Parts: sequence; C-alpha cells; structure tokens
Amino acid sequence: MADELTPETPEEEQPKKTHKQRKNGLYPGVSDELAENMRSGWADTELHGLEPIAQAAHTLARRDALSRRFPGERLVVPAGRLKTRSNDTEYPFRASTEYAYLTGDQTENGVLVLEPTGPTGHTATVYLLPRSDRENGEFWLSGQGELWVGRRHSLTEAEQLLGIPAKDVRKLAEALTEADGPVRAVRGHDSVIEAALTDKVTKERDEELRVYLSEARAVKDTFEVGELQKAVDSTVRGFEDVVKVLDKAEATSERYIEGTFFLRARVEGHDVGYGSICAAGPHATTLHWVRNDGDVRSGDLLLLDAGVETHSLYTADVTRTLPINGTYTDIQRKVYDAVYESQEAGIAAVKPGAKFRDFHDASQHVLAEKLVEWGLLEGPVERVLELGLQRRWTLHGTGHMLGMDVHDCAAARTEAYVEGTLEPGMCLTVEPGLYFQADDLTVPEEYRGIGVRIEDDILVTEDGNRNLSAALPRTSTEVEAWMARLKG
Ligand code: GLY
Ligand code: MN
Ligand code: MN
Repeated sequence: MADELTPETPEEEQPKKTHKQRKNGLYPGVSDELAENMRSGWADTELHGLEPIAQAAHTLARRDALSRRFPGERLVVPAGRLKTRSNDTEYPFRASTEYAYLTGDQTENGVLVLEPTGPTGHTATVYLLPRSDRENGEFWLSGQGELWVGRRHSLTEAEQLLGIPAKDVRKLAEALTEADGPVRAVRGHDSVIEAALTDKVTKERDEELRVYLSEARAVKDTFEVGELQKAVDSTVRGFEDVVKVLDKAEATSERYIEGTFFLRARVEGHDVGYGSICAAGPHATTLHWVRNDGDVRSGDLLLLDAGVETHSLYTADVTRTLPINGTYTDIQRKVYDAVYESQEAGIAAVKPGAKFRDFHDASQHVLAEKLVEWGLLEGPVERVLELGLQRRWTLHGTGHMLGMDVHDCAAARTEAYVEGTLEPGMCLTVEPGLYFQADDLTVPEEYRGIGVRIEDDILVTEDGNRNLSAALPRTSTEVEAWMARLKG
C-alpha cells in the first residue's frame, strides 16, 4: 500500500508531519483544496447504547483483586505496540496477556492504569488512541489514521464496551512522567511508557507485579473455562480438517497441514495459540518442529501439535499422533499404546489436592516400566526413575498450565506452580511422549524415527477432572476408526 501519502513511520503525536511534509510545506502532493475537501463531508458514525463485552464483570473482579494486592500504588499495564516487520509493514498484533486479562481489550497502544484513591482502592482508566481527527488531516495522512488501518472505537464506545473510563493515550506518557508516588509497570510491551517511567520503577518491584498477574491466572473463572472449551472445540474441528486432506499433504508437504489448521484458527478464532507442530515421519522426534517443510508419507506417523486461540485470546494445546495411511504398524502401535497408558495414568492423577508434579510422576512411571519391559533399559524401574534414565526418550515434562498463554502462568513462583497443589479451575495439559531419534544407535532399528505424543487439556474440577479435548479419540483403535470415518 506504499504510495507517497504513506507516512514513513507510525506517528505518536498525530498529526506529526512526515519528513516529506516538513520539507515540502503542508502535505506532500496534496493541494490545499484537496486538504480542505478531505476535512468535511463525513457522516457521524458514533455508536450508541453498546452492551458491555461478555467478560466485563470478570475483568472488574480481576482488577479488584489486583488493587487489593498493591494498595496505594499506581499500576501500569500496557497492551503493547505494533512491531515493524520491514519499513511500513508490521507483524500481526497480539495484545499482551496481562492487558487483555485485566481489560478484555486488545487494542494496540492501549494502557490500563490503576490510580490509587488512597491507602486502599484504585480507579481504573484505559488509555487508548481515540478516533482519528478529520479536521487536522490525521484521519488520512497519518500511519495510524483510520483511513489506513480501519475504524477504531471512540473513547465513549470503548467505555461502554469495557466498563472502564477511557482517555486519550497520547497524553499518558507525559502525565506518567509528571506524576508522583509509587508505581509499578508490566515491562516488555511498550517502550514509550517504559521510558516515561524509567526513573520511577525498579526491576524487582515490577517483577512482583508480573509474578502476581501470572499466579492470578492459575485458577480460571467461568468465562475463561468457557473460552478454553471453545478453543478446544475449534481445535478438534481443525484436526478433523487435517485428516480429511492428508492425501493433499502427501502430494505436497507438512505445510498443507499447517495451512489447513491455520485456516480453521483464523476463521473461528483469533489465530493459532503457538506455531503448529506438523511433524511427519522422523520429524515427530523433534519437539518443536515448526519448519513444517517435510514430506508426508504413507506408512509414517504424523505428530500434530496445534491449538486454536479464541478471539478472547484463550488457546488450546492438543497433540495427536496419527498413522498417515490410517493404520498403525505393529511397532508404531506398540509405542503409541504405551504413551496412551502413560497419559491415562497422568490424567487420573489430576485432581484437587494433588501436587502439580503427581501427574508427571505417574506418567513417567508407566513409560519407565515400558522401556524396561522392552529391554531398552535395565531395571528395576525404581532405579531407572531415580537416575532419570528414561529421559533419553521421554525428553520433556508431562504438562503445563494452559490459558491465555500456551505455557500459562510462566512467571509464577516455583512454590505456587511446579511445587504447588492443584485446585478446581486450574487447566493443564497432560502430554507424555516417547521419541526415538532416527540416529539413536542404542535402540533396535525398528524404533528409530518414531515419535509419539498424546496431549489433552484437562480442567481440575471439584471432584477430579474433565478432559476438555475428549472429543478427539485417544486409543489407537479409536483413532483408526475416526480417521476411516473422516477419510470416507
Ligand atoms: N505445544 C507446545 C507444548 O505442547 O507445550
Ligand atoms: Mn502442545
Ligand atoms: Mn503443551
């Protein structure tokens, strides 16, 4: 879309004149008559009587909890800014998890500020770019002008939707620079806001805010559980899409699988929640295979690890390992069934009051037993587990918290997460795997190049757990029957 009206950089203060504008007078290549003409003749499109977004009551409760944790302090939570890909082209924007969690908004440049009202209590304000001014030309002459990037909500519309007072973000940096009193900010998203606060914040205090916001997300509210189920349901449909086009993937590459799943994610949700792992044949033994440029061959396995992220930014994280031609070979089935048994043991260990580590230990125990039984490791099993010998082939932890981030709550303290206790409302993945590298000379040849992982999204309930992704078959025979049905 580059032409001479394209500003050279996104403008912070609108309308700043571009280099060319400064050099050439008013606007480059724009007659005064055209400039005058563009000021008027536009309808009033203000929207009235908007209903609050579905999660507005939940975001209020989250802000209240945050307010109680940091009384008397100004709290600054930015959405983040567009990141340049090249020249005037940006990467797709994804709001910071912290900002979206606390506001329900996802607008670039947005900032939530909780202003202390005294020793306790805060007022919340969301700072946003307002509608573009038509009078001064920013509407069509600025990189963030609505003519280029699309209509924004007015500040009044945003207030109605979010249930939070909204103000013009272009005045925020200066106001923060001038404000007194203790302040904490979520770092890493907005360099302009960080520069304004640089003399007022410390790394340690900001880290406490980040840790709090990570731990606060561990137990999901009812809105979040509903969104996670939506993410999983779309993901199930995405897996079905993939099975239906495996012949096309065989004729092309793993990219056909990636593209097929991505289509489902973009049509039903916001995006994929992480780069899809579409690993055929020996690529299944590479844990983060996201190049997805390999061949898809009949007789091999496909390890597909993918998740749809909803419009509200909650993601699924599901893996199935499928026989590309619809039927597992004997050795593939042997490995698959062992991983299934391990996953069953892991899922059974997910319940309120259990330690987070319990499901990992349960899963690993089964895998170690199998490896001893198959003669790949010398027993007894307890010795194997004590020395961690199974890890040559099990490679990774058995699961993680899931939510707005695929590896959710990652900043939580060890005692609150890895060494913590499961509670109703937590959602986590259970995803054991066995991976025999193609060049692993310590296993018989028939195992080499086989990688199997099965991953489901498990909600901790009052009396145990619920498998949100149970709609996808898990046993080897169910997988085969499901594939046969879809392939027709
Ligand atoms: N998809 C990344 C993971 O399973 O953790
Ligand atoms: Mn995964
Ligand atoms: Mn995972």
